[in-house]
Amino acid sequence: MRDLLAPESVRTRRFTTVFADVVEAAGYQQIVTPLLEDLDVFARIGDATDVVTKEMYDFVDKGDRHVALRPEFTASVCRAFVEHRPTLPWKVWYSGPNFRYEKPQRGRYRQFDQVGIEVLGVDDPHLDVEVITLGWDFYRRLGLRQVTLLLNSLGEPGDRARYVDALRTHFEAVGTALSEQSRATLARNPLRVLDSKRGEDVEFIASAPTIDAFWSPTAATHFRSVCAGLEALGIRFEVNLKLVRGLDYYRGTTFEFVGGTLDSAQNALGGGGRYDGLVESLGGPPTAGIGFALGVDRTLIACADEGVFAAPDMSVDAFVVDTTGGTQALIVTNQLRAAGIAADRAYDNRSMKAQMKAANRSGAAFAVIIGDDELAAGTVSIRPMRTGTVEGSEQFAVAGNELITNLQTLLKEVPTS
Ligand code: HAM
Repeated sequence: MRDLLAPESVRTRRFTTVFADVVEAAGYQQIVTPLLEDLDVFARIGDATDVVTKEMYDFVDKGDRHVALRPEFTASVCRAFVEHRPTLPWKVWYSGPNFRYEKPQRGRYRQFDQVGIEVLGVDDPHLDVEVITLGWDFYRRLGLRQVTLLLNSLGEPGDRARYVDALRTHFEAVGTALSEQSRATLARNPLRVLDSKRGEDVEFIASAPTIDAFWSPTAATHFRSVCAGLEALGIRFEVNLKLVRGLDYYRGTTFEFVGGTLDSAQNALGGGGRYDGLVESLGGPPTAGIGFALGVDRTLIACADEGVFAAPDMSVDAFVVDTTGGTQALIVTNQLRAAGIAADRAYDNRSMKAQMKAANRSGAAFAVIIGDDELAAGTVSIRPMRTGTVEGSEQFAVAGNELITNLQTLLKEVPTS
C-alpha cells in the first residue's frame, strides 16, 4: 500500500475526472458503495479464484459479522442492485480503492484504485460494443497509444462448463510434463492454466482446445455481432480465444485492454465482460450484466511510460511577499483567494530575500510585494515571475485597491509554467 503525494495524487484525481466526463456523457451515473461488505457478497466472485481464496482482506467485526474489504466493485454493484431494484437499464460508474493480498511489484499493489462501469438489465450485443468503446475512448482521451484490445467469449454457462471439462481432459493427459504450479491450478480451475506463462506449459497451452468449438449458436451469434459492432466503429481488436479473466462470474463476452510498456504479468490495464448470472446468485432476479474496471495505478504507469497525461500545473497565480510584519500578507492573500486568484504566501516574517526565494519556488506567475514604501504609499508592487517583465518593466506598483483587477488582466496573458 502506498502514499500518493503530489503530483501523483493530482494526476490520479484528474484521471477520475476525465473518466467521469467520458462515461457521464454516455448516460452513466455514479454509484458509491461501501469499502466493506459482507464476505458472502465477494464469495460470489467464485471459490476457484485466487481473489476469493487467497487475497481477501477479511475479518470478523465487533458484531461477529464476517466482512471483507472490497477486492473489486462488480459484486458490490450487483448487491446494491438487488437491494435498491432500480429501473432498467441501470448504467453506473464508480471509482475508488480495492484491496487484494497480492505480491506487490511495479503495477501490482495491495491497495489499488479502479474506475469502471456496469450496466444491468440489457442483453443486446450493441451494449457490449458501447461498454468496450467507452473504455477505448477513455484511453484515447488520456493520449495512450499502445493499448491492445483482446476479445473473447466464454459462451453460455453450459458451453463454459463443457469447455472446462475438455481442458481438464487435455491437461490431465499431459501428466507430469505440465509445470507443478499448473497441475495445482488444474485441480482448482482448469481455465486458469491457460494463463500460465511458464516455459514448460507453453506447448500444451498452444495445443489446448479453444472455446469457439463449444459456443452454442446463441453465443456464437452474439460474439459475431459484437465483433461487427466494433468493426463498424473502427475499433481494432484481436480475438484471443484463450483469454480467461481472473474472476469466475464471467459468461459470454470477455475483454481485456493490454498495455505495451509493462511486464507481461502486469500489463492488463483493464478488463471486463458479461456476468449474466451474478445478480441471481446474490438473490436477485435473472439479470444480464456487463462492465469493465480499469486499473488506475497501472494505467498511470503506462501513461508515464508513453509520456502522456502529465500532471497538471498546480502552481498558484500569485505569491504574496510582505516585509512589514505579515498582517498585509494575511489580508491581501485572503482578498486574492476570495476573488478566485490562487494565492500563497510566506510565513514567519522572513527577509525579503528569503520570501522572494519562496515565491520563486512556488512557481507563481506573479509576486505581490508589500514593503515599507508600498505600505506608506497605499500601493503594492507586482513582479512577473514567469515572463520576467511586463511591458519592459521587472516590477511596477499599483494602487492597493486595483491589485485584483490588474492581476486578473495580467493573468489572462501569462503563459502556464
Ligand atoms: P480485474 O481484471 O480483476 O477485473 O481488475 C481490473 C483491473 O484492475 C486490472 O486489469 C488491473 O489493471 C487492475 N488491478 C487488478 N489488481 C490489481 C493490483 N493488485 N494492483 C494494481 N492494479 C490491479 C475486475 O476487477 C472486474 N470487477 C472488472 C469487471 C467489471 N468485470 C465486469 N465488470
